[in-house]
Order: sequence, then structure tokens, then C-alpha cells
Amino acid sequence: MRRMLTLVSTAGLILMTGIGTAQTANDPIATRKALMSSVGAAAGLGGGMMKGEIAYTPAAGKAAIAAMNASAVAFGDYFPEGSDQGDTKAAAAIWSDPDGFMAEINKFAAATGAAMEASGRPGPADIDAFKAAFGPVLATCKSCHEGFRTR
Ligand code: HEC
Repeated sequence: MRRMLTLVSTAGLILMTGIGTAQTANDPIATRKALMSSVGAAAGLGGGMMKGEIAYTPAAGKAAIAAMNASAVAFGDYFPEGSDQGDTKAAAAIWSDPDGFMAEINKFAAATGAAMEASGRPGPADIDAFKAAFGPVLATCKSCHEGFRTR
């Protein structure tokens, strides 16, 4: 799970640390669910701007991308043995097919890392630039949920 840290931007690491220490000291299930909740919120923000329901600004675009990147980078660290039991929708395949799960995480982190790079400091200049950066990130949700999340 450490390999993907090479994909990380420094900004992502700082954000990730903030999330990690804010809550859930020793509860990997709660932590990974909170990370995915923030992914869901960022998808709502980014998707809302893409549909024109929320006014686009570069800063808001950058916020959606940075939140995704931080969670993508952190997510894989919260699946220790035994955490398949409890209030979780993590599928058994995560532990029986760790390489397959890692591949999905790497795809997600690569897409968010590329979106960070495309953003620059101020964020994507306009909604078209944002769509180009954020669309590939949204394209990574489904295959991981289908393979590695129960319904
Ligand atoms: C690498 C695999 C993977 C990717 C990529 C991924 N998810 Fe998830 N997601 C999961 C798993 C596993 C869970 C269940 C976690 C649990 O219950 O322990 C989950 C849970 C969630 C949840 C529920 C969180 C909660 O409060 O329980 C939301 C919302 C979510 N994902 C949104 C997204 C969106 C949006 C994307 C794409 C931008 C995405 N996910 C990409 C694996 C992934």
C-alpha cells in the first residue's frame, strides 16, 4: 500500500494528515468511511459544477480535486486484517485479491495526481479545463465499487 505514496503531491500529504488526526484514532473502518465520505462530497461539488448547478470557480475546482487526491492517497492504509468485520461495506475481495484492490487504488491515485498537476496552484482556469481534469477521476469510482464494495 505504500507504493502509491510516490504519486502523492505534498499538498495531498498535508491534507491527508489533517484528516487522519482529526477523528477516529484507532478505528480503520471509521477512517476509511470518512475518507470515502469526503470523496463523495468532492464528487458532489465537482459534479454540481460540471452540470452548472454550482457556479464554477478555480478555487472550488481545486478544492474538489485536492480532497479527492488526499483521500485517494490515504485510503489504502485503512484495511488491516480483521477489518472486514463490523459496520463496513468493504468486500472480502479486498483481502483475497490485494493486488486487484491495489490496482484500483493506484488508478484512482494516478487520476487524482494528474488532476492536481493539471490544476496548477490556482485551480483549473475554467469549467472546460476542470472537466478535462476531473472527468477521469470520476471514471475510477465504478470499477472499484463493483469489485470491492458490497451493496
Ligand atoms: C480503490 C477503490 C475505490 C475507489 C476508486 C472509490 N471507492 Fe468509494 N468506496 C470504496 C470502498 C471499499 C467503500 C466501502 C468502505 C467501508 O464501508 O469500509 C467505499 C465507500 C464509498 C462511499 C460511502 C462512504 C460511507 O460513508 O460509508 C462513498 C460515498 C463513496 N465510496 C464514493 C466514491 C466516489 C464518488 C468515488 C470516485 C470519485 C469512489 N468512491 C472511488 C472503494 C473505492
